[in-house]
Amino acid sequence: MHHFVKGMFASLGIIFAAASSLASNQNTFSEDERAAILSHGPWPPKLTPDPSNRVSGNQTAIAFGRELFRSRFLSASRRHSCITCHNPNRAYADGLALSSGVSKVDRNTISLANLRLNRWFGWDGGSDNLWAQSIRPILDPRELNGSATMVAKRLRNDIPFSRGYKAIFNALPTNHTDEDILVNLGKALAAYQETIVTPRTPFDQFREALANNDNQKANLYPLAAQRGLKIFVGKGKCGLCHQGANFTNGEFDDAGVRYFKPSGGIDKGRFGGIQKLEKSPYTLLGRYNDNPSKVPGVATRHVARSHQNWGQFRVPSLRNVSQTGPYMHDGSLTTLRDVVMHYSSLNEERLHLDGRGLLRSLNLSHQEINDLIAFLETL
Ligand code: HEC
Ligand code: HEC
Repeated sequence: MHHFVKGMFASLGIIFAAASSLASNQNTFSEDERAAILSHGPWPPKLTPDPSNRVSGNQTAIAFGRELFRSRFLSASRRHSCITCHNPNRAYADGLALSSGVSKVDRNTISLANLRLNRWFGWDGGSDNLWAQSIRPILDPRELNGSATMVAKRLRNDIPFSRGYKAIFNALPTNHTDEDILVNLGKALAAYQETIVTPRTPFDQFREALANNDNQKANLYPLAAQRGLKIFVGKGKCGLCHQGANFTNGEFDDAGVRYFKPSGGIDKGRFGGIQKLEKSPYTLLGRYNDNPSKVPGVATRHVARSHQNWGQFRVPSLRNVSQTGPYMHDGSLTTLRDVVMHYSSLNEERLHLDGRGLLRSLNLSHQEINDLIAFLETL
């Protein structure tokens, strides 16, 4: 009975398609494909304040964080700011393969968006919360080259910034320790960055039309993108790692990108990220977590390094991906075409497959490559 009904709907679908003038232009999706497509939404997501940051969602802190983000006040030389590398006109990235502040950094700048959805931060997940990840560049000698002492001294001597600080943290910086000030600035920066959310895209409109069985609206979505989407959820198996509404499972994997650093040496990837978490005073397990229950720290307590973590990097979100090149942790792939070609002709022997076998060389045809790119461009 079930099959009969399904078969009947399928034939009805064909009749409809034939009756419409778009007959030959229509893609049909199987039940499985449809379910996979629907899993990549809805968008925008519902966001709640970060319980580990008591000023998350606080409008005064957001405005103050926005100013800090743009100001050169946090850089030792006063020549750099967060926007040196996270330029709002470049999707909060810099368009470079490898980022550069005081000196060259051996990783690609991550585009800042939809950060409230992250569980880990940085290519290696070296932070388990956004305020800690915002402190890191202040201290990194290659980025802003600052210190808690420097930042605290500057803040205490700057009357407008001191007043802004007091309006949020209820005390003048003269009454706080250097380290408390550094962490509080990280929390204001985090409150601001949480407000950067990517808009709805043609893909989101297509997904909604599909959910509502609105064929007319669905057909506004380019056919090449529809074919590319079929590859993405089907034989490309992209959705296994690039999951859900934000097109990432938030965890770490090896996508076959080299892990030799351009400057020499090896990028330890997630292995190094776990080492950073173990050493950091600013994790969810530490005293700066404002959530009294510390529940979110559970994931951090349970991470353990293993051999498998070598060469793993965080699965990036694909939202806005046409704007965030060059790609991969080391910026080694310049265009989306390069990325799709990479997946099409992977060197399988180089992958640490660890028996999971998620990635296989796809050997896509010329048209399939173009279709997959067309799809990625609608995100
Ligand atoms: C010299 C360039 C540079 C500067 C300056 C810089 N960043 Fe970054 N940012 C990077 C790079 C490179 C990464 C990737 C880091 C990694 O994984 O090793 C990154 C990653 C991040 C992330 C992680 C995003 C994610 O999805 O995991 C956040 C958040 C961030 N930066 C915030 C800031 C803030 C806030 C400032 C200013 C206080 C700042 N950055 C200054 C280059 C920079
Ligand atoms: C096994 C998990 C996995 C699968 C399957 C997978 N990816 Fe990825 N993807 C990753 C990881 C991990 C990275 C980052 C790798 C790095 O930087 O070393 C990445 C990076 C990317 C990037 C670069 C994004 C950026 O901002 O740098 C794109 C684009 C991408 N993948 C698209 C795809 C497509 C298309 C497919 C299917 C053909 C796919 N991925 C399949 C894990 C996966």
